[in-house]
Order: sequence, then C-alpha cells, then structure tokens
Amino acid sequence: MTLLGVNIDHVATIRNARGGREPEPVQAALQAEYGGADSIVCHLREDRRHIRDRDVRLLRELVQTSLQLEMALVEDVLKVALDVKPQEVMIVPERRLEVTTENGFDAVKHAESLKSHVERFRKAGISVSVFVDADMKQVEAAHASGASTIELHTGPYAHARTDKETEGALDSLETAAHRAWELGLQVHAGHGLNYHNVTRLIRQIPVEKVNIGHAIVSRAVFSGIDGAVREMKNVMVGLG
Ligand code: PXP
Repeated sequence: MTLLGVNIDHVATIRNARGGREPEPVQAALQAEYGGADSIVCHLREDRRHIRDRDVRLLRELVQTSLQLEMALVEDVLKVALDVKPQEVMIVPERRLEVTTENGFDAVKHAESLKSHVERFRKAGISVSVFVDADMKQVEAAHASGASTIELHTGPYAHARTDKETEGALDSLETAAHRAWELGLQVHAGHGLNYHNVTRLIRQIPVEKVNIGHAIVSRAVFSGIDGAVREMKNVMVGLG
C-alpha cells in the first residue's frame, strides 16, 4: 500500500505572513500524524521563506513517524541537516524566484557533487532521496550516486490539460519507476498531487510513497489537518 508523506511548508508560510507564532508547523505535523500521515516533510529553503531552522529542530524532536527534510545542496542548509539528522533528506534544485520547486534535480549534470553529498549523509546515518524528472538517465544517475530512493516529479502529470498529455505523463512516470525498481531503488512521487489525481497515479504506478502538501493544507483550512489527512488516506485506498 502506498504511504503518505505530508508536507507542512505552507503552515509556516501562513505563520510567517504575520511574523508571529501561529499557526505552529509542529502542531500541524502532530495533527497530520494523528490523521494517519506516514511521514512529515518540510523544505528548509536557502531563503528560509517558510520553514526555519528552529522548525526543523523541533520537528526532529517531536515527529513520531519519520522526518524527511527537503533541501538544495547549499552549505548552510547542509550544516543544519547534518546536525539535526532527519531520517531522510530529499535533494531538490532551488531557484530564488520560483514559487515552488519547478524541476527535478539534474543528477546527470551534478553527478560528482551528488555522489560526494550522498556519501556525507550516509556516514551521518541519513538516507537520501533524489527528486528527479521521469527520465531514464536521471533515474540511473540518481542510482549511481548511491542514493536509496528517488522521488519522481509528478508535476507534468498533475498539470496535464488533455487526456493525451495525462497518459503521456503517466507512461513516462511508469517507465521511470520500473527502471528504478529494476535498479533496487525505492520510488516515491510528488508535486501537484491532490484529491482528484492521486488515485489514478497510484493505481497505475504503485509507488512506495506519495508526498503531498498544498492540497492537504488547502483542505485543512476547512476540515482541519487531521481530517484532511484522513480523507486523503481514504481516497488513496479507494474509499473517498
Ligand atoms: N515533492 C517535492 C520535491 C516538492 O518540492 C513538493 C513541494 O514542496 C512536494 C513534493 C509537494 O508538492 P505539493 O505541495 O504540490 O503537494
């Protein structure tokens, strides 16, 4: 059965909008676990626009499932990761002006750097996932780096406008996932997944985990975060 990682970055975005203390991202993480989240995901960006260092430290202490820290390979974030030691880091590219992560990490272009960072994390007891586009060369390069997991970028599937585009995006994801499984990688998927498109994805491609943020935090505005997570779990098993 596909597991659900819940990304709570947007709770921090709302908190930071007023520069105060609420809503508290740690509380969101605990409520998400109460609703059935299998792991908690947060992205410590170089510009600290949402999640901050203290959030990562508190989450590491209080999350009971598993904490996945999304990050670019930049030195000051690396320092936090190696100090806090989340169960897993997910390597993503980061561009200052992007609204959210736009593309997969280029594991081919940055092969050497990725490999040395994976080794650093491995020595610290942190497992590594690489966020990649559904592309065979990227999957193979992520594997060559020593990472144990890839997360496939589902943006092209989530943003497809026609049946043809949707099917094309699903086929690319399926081909990439099968290559990854052949290589012995764990396969996660995420970006743009919601209550309407997640079921089709995981029925066709039974990935080990999906990571979902925006759709769950949006629904939580109306139904509370534990309710929103529970509803997502129901949709994933066909009860929604
Ligand atoms: N996976 C990765 C690598 C991401 O960067 C994000 C967005 O932070 C997500 C999953 C979650 O995407 P969404 O908020 O669209 O569900």
